[in-house]
Amino acid sequence: MDFRLDALGEEALLDVRRCEDEPSLHAVRVRYLGKKGLLTLAIREMAQQHPEQRARIGKQINDVKHALEAAIMAKRDDIVAQGIARKLAEETIDVTLPGRTERLGAVHPLMHVIEEIEHIFVGMGYTVAEGPEVETDYYNFEALNIPEHHPARAMHDSFYIDETTLLRTQTSPVQIRTMQRCGGAIPIKIICPGKVYRRDDDDPTHSHQFMQVEGLVVDTHLSMAHLKGTLAHFARTMFGSHSRVRLRPSFFPFTEPSVEVDISCAVCGGVGCRVCKQSGWVEVLGAGMVHPDVLARCGYDPTVVRAFAFGVGVERIAMLRYGIEDIRHFYTNDRAFLQQFRMRL
Ligand code: PHE
Repeated sequence: MDFRLDALGEEALLDVRRCEDEPSLHAVRVRYLGKKGLLTLAIREMAQQHPEQRARIGKQINDVKHALEAAIMAKRDDIVAQGIARKLAEETIDVTLPGRTERLGAVHPLMHVIEEIEHIFVGMGYTVAEGPEVETDYYNFEALNIPEHHPARAMHDSFYIDETTLLRTQTSPVQIRTMQRCGGAIPIKIICPGKVYRRDDDDPTHSHQFMQVEGLVVDTHLSMAHLKGTLAHFARTMFGSHSRVRLRPSFFPFTEPSVEVDISCAVCGGVGCRVCKQSGWVEVLGAGMVHPDVLARCGYDPTVVRAFAFGVGVERIAMLRYGIEDIRHFYTNDRAFLQQFRMRL
């Protein structure tokens, strides 16, 4: 009997060890400890033993039973732990797999430059105004001292929509619209970014559609010094503190005096390169003191009120800023070109 019990105990422990899942472990429990289990039968048999042997065998059976129960419990913990480990392994996400990237668009370099220009002027107390791209020739020309047959109209070869409506050739009509809206009130400090259209032949520096930022300041005691100071601040903020501006006398019918404004070439630092055509300077804007007739036409007394205005060529600024030699790159939607500006935006 002793020997049989020992063998039974060892066999049971071996069976437990072989189990790999809970059902097989359950089967082992039933096989040995169930109602008709082998150990249960052994206990029953014990009843038929001599009373003096019963105590010893009883203890031996109990030892085997406890050992088996402990082994089954330990095995169950083992199986549960293994199950969790397997599940975790199966559900592991391989974070080293390259994901599917979303193609994000980017701000167009011209829009970015406009935003920078706005930022600089808003910092000086300007507000941003808007005006229509489809304009009447009154606002685009007449009100700006450019009557019919004025030679200045020839320089603005225009896209007419009907007899009196055209695509604006400049953002200067916004000066008129703003002053009329303000009805004589001062001060006015606005900039107006927007598209303009001229029937230019497209070449590396000309496009039939381009962008300007118009500026207008109306107040008392304004002079060319304020205009120059404003533009110098703009150039230094946009291109760095070494940047300089140069005013050259010019003519615009709606400003007197008028100037063309050059900025020292930001690409070569003024030494001379292809962008500045070896001159060291790039013409980026027209400006001047608003003509007294224009002020009077808009309800301002030119003996009391002074105004200066400027019109910045946005593409020129962007070309200088990024060293771009051909204006047409901005409009061809070439991704290889546009991609280069992603990092800066
Ligand atoms: N509107 C002018 C142009 O397009 C530029 C300009 C603006 C000049 C404001 C003087 C004052 O050439």
